Amino acid sequence: MDKKNIDWSHLGFGYIKTDKRYVSNYTEGAWDEGALIEDDMITMSECACVLQYSQTIFEGLKAYTTENGKTVVFRPDLNAERLASSAKRMEMPVFPEERFIDAVEQVVRANEAYVPPYGTGATLYIRPYMFGINPVIGVKPADDFQFRVFATPVGPYFKGGAKPITIKVSDFDRAAPHGTGFIKAGLNYAMSLHAIVTAHKEGFDENMYLDAGTRTKVEETGGANFLFVTKDNKVVTPKSNSILPSITRRSLMTVAKEYLGLEVEEREVFFDEVKDFAECGLCGTAAVISPVGKIYDHGKEICFPAGMEKMGPVTQKLYDTLTGIQMGRIEDKFGWVREIK
Ligand code: PLP
Ligand code: COI
Repeated sequence: MDKKNIDWSHLGFGYIKTDKRYVSNYTEGAWDEGALIEDDMITMSECACVLQYSQTIFEGLKAYTTENGKTVVFRPDLNAERLASSAKRMEMPVFPEERFIDAVEQVVRANEAYVPPYGTGATLYIRPYMFGINPVIGVKPADDFQFRVFATPVGPYFKGGAKPITIKVSDFDRAAPHGTGFIKAGLNYAMSLHAIVTAHKEGFDENMYLDAGTRTKVEETGGANFLFVTKDNKVVTPKSNSILPSITRRSLMTVAKEYLGLEVEEREVFFDEVKDFAECGLCGTAAVISPVGKIYDHGKEICFPAGMEKMGPVTQKLYDTLTGIQMGRIEDKFGWVREIK
């Protein structure tokens, strides 16, 4: 397979149009058979539910070229399951999980020339999504929906790749206690746009959101969960009903326990204890594990011991093991990696 002539090693996290995308329409209570198409444009009513009331949900996963040249995707079954959970919360029909995996595979296969070669640091980011498409003016869910999957080659989410970033404790809230923080709905990201623009203007890479109810507990960032490492090498991640159940975080907790033999804890994490951790990282499909070097909290700074040039030692081991499994360098003990044939 000839690859596209792209400067893979210098890709940022941006959109590049690829050749084919998958579309399936839901009308009269049923999904059609779905197909790959070339047209990247979508035509819909000016009054489409997604445009008026933001009825849209999405997923994100990646395809990789392994060390021995295979194309693989990572745990697509969990993305299928999470999209179903998002659909239920948003009064949308579930796209069958086996069809979700098939659609992802079709899109990767059809855009194989855009799957970055092994060793470039780039990956193919896959974006499944679903939205309410028919006109709706009174506030209610749509009746008709479209499910789509496109793919785009990407580099690191944060400029500088694996270098530590600086984040700030946000003055804005991301998700309400009984709201939609635990699903992947576009509205959660719309909420975060002003906060991220504000953080960037002030020179920070991301926001740390605290729980909206008490503002004492760590939740997540705009696009990733937190992992902390204690001074005695325990891996800790916040537990909350208003954060997204990150597939990367769940995988890393298993890596920590089962591959690295570390103790792991999923529990409420109070902001007051963050200063006592030895390492901090952001984890997600886009972020992989991005080390946090510094947290700014209203005039005070928390600086982690590894500094601003390199990851802490446990974060590095987690990163190496997870990416090793994804790229076929380390045994895939739990069958997480699915080959696209
Ligand atoms: N939290 C938020 C708000 C996200 O948008 C993402 C990205 O998907 C994550 C966490 C990480 O989730 P995952 O590891 O499943 O990509
Ligand atoms: C992902 O990691 O897949 C996400 O959806 C995060 C997003 C902020 C790009």
